[in-house]
Amino acid sequence: MTMKIGILVGSLRAHSYNRMVANTIPDLVPTAQFEHIAIGELPFYNSDLDQDEGPDAVKLFRDQVRAADGIIIVSPEYNAGMPGVLKNALDWASTKAAAGALIKKPAAIIGATPGPRGTIMGQQQIRHTLEGVQALALPYQRMYISEVMHKVDPAVGKLTDATTNKYLQRYVEAFVQWIDQVNLLDR
Ligand code: FNR
Repeated sequence: MTMKIGILVGSLRAHSYNRMVANTIPDLVPTAQFEHIAIGELPFYNSDLDQDEGPDAVKLFRDQVRAADGIIIVSPEYNAGMPGVLKNALDWASTKAAAGALIKKPAAIIGATPGPRGTIMGQQQIRHTLEGVQALALPYQRMYISEVMHKVDPAVGKLTDATTNKYLQRYVEAFVQWIDQVNLLDR
């Protein structure tokens, strides 16, 4: 069966570089099926709202995370950490009412920035939180994209730098293998 991978983008802006990176992934790894999982409509986490299935946007989000064989987070770094909107989404997926949507869920982290350091600090924080929610982040390998403005074509909304695309393809292929490994261990 075709593997189904959910993609969460940590930026909500219309011309987000990280969204351009996310949009490129399905072209590079056509053997898997990718689905964008929206996080922008989630309310701020509030345990008073976190009863039963929660608000509609939360239910949809959790259902999509649960149905995915793995998730890829593609996110900018804000002030050396992850954007609040992404942390909010991970919190919604983590609680008892979410019935462990992220527990043992294979996860990969990608980040793009116009700056020189490729979202290193932001990715560390994301990795730390993924450990906290008992997701299984792809070990060892990292995918940092710096000076991203020189590597995209905004007109097509995708990453067009050949070298970066090659690394991105290898990274996502490694993640597909990681999902297979996790599933084998889980049997
Ligand atoms: C940033 N940016 C940024 N970049 C970076 O490399 N390290 C950082 O710590 C920060 N901090 C930061 C904080 C805030 C509040 C904003 C709005 C931006 C710049 C950021 O990488 C840039 O705006 C990207 O273009 C954001 O990603 P998207 O929206 O293009 O995907």
